[in-house]
Amino acid sequence: MKIIMLGAPGAGKGTQSEKIEEKYQLPHISTGDIFRANIKNNTELGQKAKTYMDKGELVPDELVVDLVIDRVKQDDCAKGYILDGFPRTIPQAESLDAALKDMNDAIDYAIDIEISDEAIIKRMSGRRACTKCGATYHIVNVPPKKEGICDKCGTELILRDDDKEETVKNRLKVYHDQTQPLIDYYKKKGILKEVDGSKSTPEDAFAAIVKILGE
Ligand code: AP5
Ligand code: ZN
Repeated sequence: MKIIMLGAPGAGKGTQSEKIEEKYQLPHISTGDIFRANIKNNTELGQKAKTYMDKGELVPDELVVDLVIDRVKQDDCAKGYILDGFPRTIPQAESLDAALKDMNDAIDYAIDIEISDEAIIKRMSGRRACTKCGATYHIVNVPPKKEGICDKCGTELILRDDDKEETVKNRLKVYHDQTQPLIDYYKKKGILKEVDGSKSTPEDAFAAIVKILGE
């Protein structure tokens, strides 16, 4: 099962991807997490990506596409995977489709998590992220068992650099300009599934996703 997660920044793509990973045993490939790991390790890719991410802009397509296509060719992706945060532009989607076609393969579901910009801006200031394993929490909606510490790996949780309100507003603008057109792109392919992301707990959205993917 090959799944793409669509939705604005903060819609809950990462949160739902973690749940899908756990239930369906599929690798969770988050381009945002890959970039953040590279920034943490101060790699050349990380240094390049940071200049865009800190402003809330997209990293150029040429820095993302090959990285993801190489990743989905790895052995652990043979049964499927969850793409979280990729594709994010029409050219990225076209490159992915072309690469999959060469492999006689295709995406099964594009799941779009829907939520208003106002709700996102409120949510983001409460998000806390683990820099080691990528797990996501919310100080009110999804609190960790011990304040400020990741349940899964014990690492200290942080507020992401790009979660400041001004940067979030720019990320939303970039989303509407460059990523939202993908909704139509996948609708035309007949694989788009829409999920309400505005519910007050992630479990509600996940129940809707399980209905789509099957038990
Ligand atoms: P990325 O890391 O992908 O960020 P994003 O798309 O902006 O998405 P987020 O991670 O912010 O949000 P999410 O939808 O995963 O929400 P979450 O589950 O955390 O990308 C970061 C940057 O990297 C980009 O800006 C860009 O520069 C670059 N980049 C990455 N991929 C790229 C690409 N392909 N091309 C070019 N550039 C790229 O949830 C948010 C919060 O809400 C959490 O606190 C969570 O606990 C809470 N929550 C979730 N669901 C619910 C719910 N139902 N009810 C209540 N609270 C909830
Ligand atoms: Zn962790």
